[in-house]
Amino acid sequence: MTGNKKAIVTGGTRGIGRAIVKELAAKSCCGVLLSDVAFIYNSCDECAEEIIQEISDSGTKIYAFKADVSDYEQTEETVKAAIEKLGGVDILINNAGITKDNLLLRMQEKDFDDVISANLKSVFNYTKAVLKTMIRQRYGRIVNIASVVALVGNAGQSNYVASKAGVIGFTKAMARELASRNITVNAVAPGFIQTDMTEKLSDEQRENLVKTIPLGRMGCPEDIAKVVGFLCSNYADYITGQVITVDGGMTM
Ligand SMILES: NC(=O)c1ccc[n+]([C@@H]2O[C@H](COP(=O)([O-])OP(=O)(O)OC[C@H]3O[C@@H](n4cnc5c(N)ncnc54)[C@H](O)[C@@H]3O)[C@@H](O)[C@H]2O)c1
Repeated sequence: MTGNKKAIVTGGTRGIGRAIVKELAAKSCCGVLLSDVAFIYNSCDECAEEIIQEISDSGTKIYAFKADVSDYEQTEETVKAAIEKLGGVDILINNAGITKDNLLLRMQEKDFDDVISANLKSVFNYTKAVLKTMIRQRYGRIVNIASVVALVGNAGQSNYVASKAGVIGFTKAMARELASRNITVNAVAPGFIQTDMTEKLSDEQRENLVKTIPLGRMGCPEDIAKVVGFLCSNYADYITGQVITVDGGMTM
């Protein structure tokens, strides 16, 4: 493909999503990727503005859309507007996600529903909304951000683990459904990454978790973004339906 690719990234204002926006737009993975990016966020207008400022010097176009990724109708409108601004869509990164942890005995029904909606329904919403365009052009790269806990389980996170296991199943089903149209669908399963999401943990919890990581440190958002960039690059043209674990060796 020639010219800038066009990417949509959900949850782009902070953490892993922010690093992915920068990776796709500014740095260009392996020298082959340079994308115009539309990112979706639901809080912090100043953060969105800050990213636009940071990236607008890089020569790629960047657009921000405020929307709730779990809302189907809002998604249709948002993706339509993003495709119009970008002039198409080649790449979709389903990154937005939340946690509402509790032991099942104490978990409220709303905590279960909210996490499934934000983490899994959102992946359905955004994938469906980009599909017609990708199928028509016979090209697409979709990367879904899952989690290692979907592979090994985690006490106190039944809602989150179920949502991420669902994301992995959805990834594999879509990879089979879309392969003949040259659309690849892969998942990245991060381990323990330094973001606002893991800020909630106590120092003791953090120290104990780091002890289980062979590489001896928490990951940073860029560790995930680089792998996402690779999966969207031409180097990964023959990879689909895979779950790439990026966790410093925590699970093997
Ligand atoms: N941090 C980790 O250790 C870790 C580990 C495994 C997987 N993950 C996954 O990586 C992804 C990013 O996590 P993070 O650590 O950067 O989290 P984060 O909390 O720092 O950022 C999440 C982003 O998603 C957005 N978001 C959440 N709900 C939304 C909604 N309903 N509509 C629109 N935007 C919404 C937020 O605005 C934010 O920009 C998530 O899917 C998370 O589950 C994170």
